[in-house]
Amino acid sequence: MTHDIAQPRSLSGIKPTGQPHWGNYFGMIRPALELAADHDAMYFIADLHALTSVKDGAAVRRDSLDVAATLLACGLDPTRTILWRQSDVPEVLELTWVLSCATSLGLLERAHSVKDARAKGNDLNHGVYSYPVLMAADILLFDTDVVPVGRDQKQHLEMARDMATFVNVAWFGHPAGGTVDDTVPWDGQSLKRPRALVRDEVALVPGLDGQKMSKSYGNHIAVFADPKTLKSRIMAIQTDSTPLAEPKNPDTCHVVALYKLFATADELAQLRAHYIGGNYGYGHAKLALLAQAEAHFAPMRERYQAHLARPDDLEDLLRDGARRARTIAAPVLHRVRSAVGLPGQPHR
Ligand code: ADP
Ligand code: TRP
Repeated sequence: MTHDIAQPRSLSGIKPTGQPHWGNYFGMIRPALELAADHDAMYFIADLHALTSVKDGAAVRRDSLDVAATLLACGLDPTRTILWRQSDVPEVLELTWVLSCATSLGLLERAHSVKDARAKGNDLNHGVYSYPVLMAADILLFDTDVVPVGRDQKQHLEMARDMATFVNVAWFGHPAGGTVDDTVPWDGQSLKRPRALVRDEVALVPGLDGQKMSKSYGNHIAVFADPKTLKSRIMAIQTDSTPLAEPKNPDTCHVVALYKLFATADELAQLRAHYIGGNYGYGHAKLALLAQAEAHFAPMRERYQAHLARPDDLEDLLRDGARRARTIAAPVLHRVRSAVGLPGQPHR
């Protein structure tokens, strides 16, 4: 186990709300796993977050193991990276309460997630409101430096920074009012202010209809879809009705946007040339995309299935991850409890 304390810490979470899709993979999973090479990486399965929308215990349990198997199959190395299930680290709920007391309702009202839920007439339970507070606690509990996420999570990161600032001013004696300057090094005594890490090239992976790929829009392609499903999903990508012989615009085509995620620069240039040259149909492009996706994901799919077939091993790994995560959380929570006037350690 190599946890070099000099390395910055990267942390992210993924909700167990169904099988991960290409947007999750390119937008978050792969960048997060790449960061593990030179970061102290910590990734977790956000099962507490899933409860805001999923009211099916068996599904949350199953999908939690599914996310764990997915991360391992995609290359998470548990000897370097801590992987745990959020609810196995109950300290996060304690910090959530303290942050709740430092967060105005006005801030929570501005969250895109609340606005979306309201616009769609979805269930606006208290958990939906508290979601950014729990997410801030996830991050601040571990003195996190960077949080690899897709663009849709940037606002949540801003909110986490605002909460850290408020706590630091209210309880850790930081000066109020002035703009917070990120060039001032963290004092090691308060809450560390994290930053989002959004990779521009994959900040928004489009779905079959060109909108953001999302489970909730039903326009997604699962990372480990079986070959038959993969083919039918790719064939369902929306294209226009330009006839086969005519030149086509590679810049507006969703198939090209997805092909770009897998292809080398040369392969992409070749596909673009086919589009511009004409006599090349969308069906051809879709088959090229299918070949790329299958080559990329097939080896991972095998590993994924092997992990899923050993749920007890996954549980052991998550338990060990939680134990390690709790040792990192303990001093941070102690720091916060002491500052706000609670006993540094609860009398348990
Ligand atoms: P979904 O929208 O399907 O419910 P999640 O909200 O569970 O996906 O997202 C998990 C992670 O994947 C987040 O970091 C999110 O930013 C990223 N992500 C999700 N969809 C996309 C996408 N289409 N493009 C880029 N990143 C995405
Ligand atoms: N809100 C994130 C999502 O919907 C998941 C998440 C929960 C998260 N806690 C986090 C991501 C902490 C990064 C850091 O995808």
